[in-house]
Order: sequence, then structure tokens, then C-alpha cells
Amino acid sequence: MLVHAIATNATYEFASDVRAGLSRPGQKELPSKYFYDDVGSALFEVISRLPEYGLTRADERLLRRHGSDIVDRVPGPVAVAELGSGSGRKTRWLLEALSRRQRTFYYPVEISHSALIMCERELRDIDSVSIVGFEREYLDGLLEVAACRKRGQHLFVLFLGSTIGNFDRLAGIKFLANVRKVLVPGDSLLLGTDLEKPPLQMLRAYDDELGVTAAFNLNLLSRINRELDADFDLAQFSHQATINSAARSVEMHLRSKRRQAVTIPASEVVVELQEGETIWTESSHKYSANEIFQMASDSGFHCEAQWIDQQWPFAENLLIAD
Ligand code: AVJ
Repeated sequence: MLVHAIATNATYEFASDVRAGLSRPGQKELPSKYFYDDVGSALFEVISRLPEYGLTRADERLLRRHGSDIVDRVPGPVAVAELGSGSGRKTRWLLEALSRRQRTFYYPVEISHSALIMCERELRDIDSVSIVGFEREYLDGLLEVAACRKRGQHLFVLFLGSTIGNFDRLAGIKFLANVRKVLVPGDSLLLGTDLEKPPLQMLRAYDDELGVTAAFNLNLLSRINRELDADFDLAQFSHQATINSAARSVEMHLRSKRRQAVTIPASEVVVELQEGETIWTESSHKYSANEIFQMASDSGFHCEAQWIDQQWPFAENLLIAD
């Protein structure tokens, strides 16, 4: 596989995002995209196998069962771009269905280098699929993929796993609209969305018995220690998952067990935390099947078809650019 990596000053950006998020006057926060270093990406792979976290299995079940139907409804011929490929395991079902119809270029766009490597290992055996990875932020990568597009070729963009849920509702629509700007009419977007379910079930998915999600959350502080030379004492923080019913999301926080100060040299900041104060690390929004149709039209698409898993409410939505 060819991987287009770039030498941005990733550590500098990390340091300034950490500084900005932890210096906020009200709720302190850290961007959830920083969960996915090597350790975090591996922990997420474990989360996706936990009994409490049915999301990834539902996503994969839908793609396995309906991969051919989905691909049949995609206007082609296409090149495939995936935003946040992760391990690439569930993408196999779509690429296999597509490769029966055409020779396929697959462009995973992923900020995690280790995930890109996993993804190519996972998928390289599929006949008549060529993989070119982009180690980039989603929209930057998508722009580059679009620039490679051949005459008469449509783009089929994959945004699976309910990653959109990390945006609040308005930012999610704005993100889809930005994706739409890169596309032309007839291009398509397969959007995976986790659906609302009973509160306890949603909470347990983010607060599992084994403590893997707690480790995933706390790893963000370890990462800051490793990469920014900070002195977070992990034993002084606890994992917390809560439902935000107004936002219809599950939030993860890191709660300070006592009053403490943390030094983050690379961010040139000392952060003070009160006992019980939290750092907000992630929101995972949950959707109703119906609102996806509105989200699609608010962002310049129409929702052509929707497939819903019965075991774990989750929807695959096929959006076509108008
Ligand atoms: C990969 C963003 C979809 O929000 O459910 C899993 C990440 N966080 N457990 C999600 C996650 C805690 C996951 N997404």
C-alpha cells in the first residue's frame, strides 16, 4: 500500500489543543480525536468486542448482510474514500461486493498511522481492490482523494461506526455539508449512525464492567504525559459516563478525585483542578432513524435508503448528493 503521510507539526498542534481545552474558564475539555494513539486504537479494538458495546458489531452485521444491496444502489463506477477507516474490518463486505462489479480504488483517510497499517493488512487480500492510504484529517484527505478522481468516476464516501456522533448535532450537519462541497451530484455517502436506546443500555456501552472504556478514557492523560511530558497522576482521576438527555448523547468525562495541579511543559501551562471537577473528553450523540432524512437534506443530500439492525438499533444510511 502507498501511504501519503505528511510532516505536520503534530505534537505542536496536540500541545496547543490541550492548552486551549484545559484553560477554558468553564467546563474543561479535550478533543476526542486524540484518543487514537497506538494504545488508544488498540483499546478501541477491544471495546468493539465487549458485550456491552454492540455498536461495531451492529455496523458490521448490516454491512455483511446488506453489502450487495447497498452497493447496488450506489451510482457508479466509483472510487471509495473512507473517513476514519480504523482496522478496516467491516469495510471488507462493501469492497467485496464492489469488486464483483468493477476494479476498485479504496482510499482510507485516517489520522492514526497504526490504524492505517492494520487496515491495509486486513484488506489487501481482496482481488481487484487497490489501496492508497492518506494519513490526514478527514476533509484534507477527502480533498486529495477527490483530486485523484478520474473522468466519469463517482466518489463513494464511507463514514461508518457512528463517528459523526462525536460532533454535536449542528456541527454534524455542517461537517456533512463540508463533505458535500467536495462532491458532485450523484456521488454518495454511506453514513453509519447509532440509534437511541434505553438509557441504561447506552450508559453501560460507555462504562463496561471490565473497565476497558475507563482505560481508553484515561489513556488520553497517559498520552499527554508521554508526548507532552506532563505529570498527570492517573490514580487521581476516575472515568465517568453520563447521559445528556437534552443533547441526546452519552458524555465521557475524567473526574478529578481531589484538588490538584498538573504541569504540562510542552503546552506551557499548569492546570488546577478542584475536587470533583471534570474534563469532558467525548460526546456520542444518538439518533432517531427519521431525523437522518432531515440531516441529509439540510446538508445537500437526500437519504436514498436506510438499513436498520434489529438486535442493536443502528442504521446505515445511503445519502446521495443532489
Ligand atoms: C468510534 C466514536 C463511534 O463514540 O461510540 C467508544 C468511540 N468512545 N467508547 C463512540 C468510543 C467510547 C466511539 N466512536
